[in-house]
Amino acid sequence: MTEALPHVFAPLTLAGHTMRNRIAMAPLTRQVAEPDGSPTDEMVAYYARRARGGCGLIITEGTYQSDSHACRAYLSQPGIVTEKQVAGWARIADAIHAHGAKAILQLMHGGRVVDPHCLAPGQQAVSASDTHSQGWVLYSDTNYEAEIRGITGPWPKVTFNPARALTVAEIHAIADGFAEGAARAVAAGFDGVEIHGANGYLLYQFIHTSTNFRTDAFGGSAANRVRFARLVCEKVRAAIGKDKIITLRLSQDGVDDFGGAWAGGVATAREIGAALKGAEIDALHWSSFNYADNRDPASGVPMPTALREASGLPMIVNGGIAQGAEAEAAIASGAGDMVAVGRPIFANPDWPQMVRSGHPVDLMPFDRKYVIKPPLDYSYAYPADYAAPAW
Ligand SMILES: Cc1cc2nc3c(=O)[nH]c(=O)nc-3n(C[C@H](O)[C@H](O)[C@H](O)COP(=O)(O)O)c2cc1C
Repeated sequence: MTEALPHVFAPLTLAGHTMRNRIAMAPLTRQVAEPDGSPTDEMVAYYARRARGGCGLIITEGTYQSDSHACRAYLSQPGIVTEKQVAGWARIADAIHAHGAKAILQLMHGGRVVDPHCLAPGQQAVSASDTHSQGWVLYSDTNYEAEIRGITGPWPKVTFNPARALTVAEIHAIADGFAEGAARAVAAGFDGVEIHGANGYLLYQFIHTSTNFRTDAFGGSAANRVRFARLVCEKVRAAIGKDKIITLRLSQDGVDDFGGAWAGGVATAREIGAALKGAEIDALHWSSFNYADNRDPASGVPMPTALREASGLPMIVNGGIAQGAEAEAAIASGAGDMVAVGRPIFANPDWPQMVRSGHPVDLMPFDRKYVIKPPLDYSYAYPADYAAPAW
């Protein structure tokens, strides 16, 4: 059935790594690592199962790369800091490769939206500027979830603490932390890393004008606001070399601002794209829940299209792609060179093979609690009653 989706089922090469098709599994945080941040057996099975489902690339869940600078964002988030964590990720990278997919590890720093439970006593969250997110930690609001996490105290709504602005020296130190984490990811066997500049976390807080009020070289113009992300990518490149993949993920909205929009709309996307031209990045990755929804009343151009054109970089486009035809259209329209599919692949590990067969896919009602503690064996599939697939 390849002929039906010729753009999707064509190989793509990034940094010398050829992926068997243009389907990436989008990063999905599940918070199921050991309390010390080590990947579990269940995580190995979960990723292996999705690699076996046929995607070309797996982008892991957001992973903390440093024990300093208040990097860790969530309880039970995996890290890539200790030898034990690296050994756990090595098993995941091997399992993904064994099923023919490439694998990159997503590195993140939570910035101002770190769960206060992850801060050391007296430690303050950090950000671009002195700000205080009015959002709350994204656990589902069930007592059940509090129970499985062993959390007592303010529940279910855990709010964020005020954050302080980073110094320039700290910005460089955090960028070094990303580079060290990237080197450990490569040592674990990953084909590269994704730098998380999206969804409300630290690098996003620099890029977004609603959280960056700096007047130095890291604030103001689009070029200044992406300077931190570019610096991270440069240091990561120096650490892992040209033959490993570096992607940079961007978004308008964040975990504490789901309606978030870039103030200048598509024009801002073009400025940011231009500011990233020539950066040490093999592909950008647009994160959204609907890639065509640009939230710009003045333009109908999807953000990933504008970013791709202005940067000259390949684009992985994500958001609301649930059917094969939608994946094909996303690539054929010029919004991206590859699609990243999150909830559908989470729910249906065989999504790539399903769409290849022409089978329609239901985007089932998504309940975050299934991400956290699935009632079924996650090496198998989504714990939903999938009405007798006919193939
Ligand atoms: C439970 C859950 C966890 C997520 N975790 C991450 C993450 O760790 N890193 C990231 O960049 N995006 C994360 N996202 C965003 C997804 O990668 C993706 O952008 C979103 O699900 C929309 O794509 P989809 O329509 O294909 O699901 C998460 C989304 C969900 C629903």
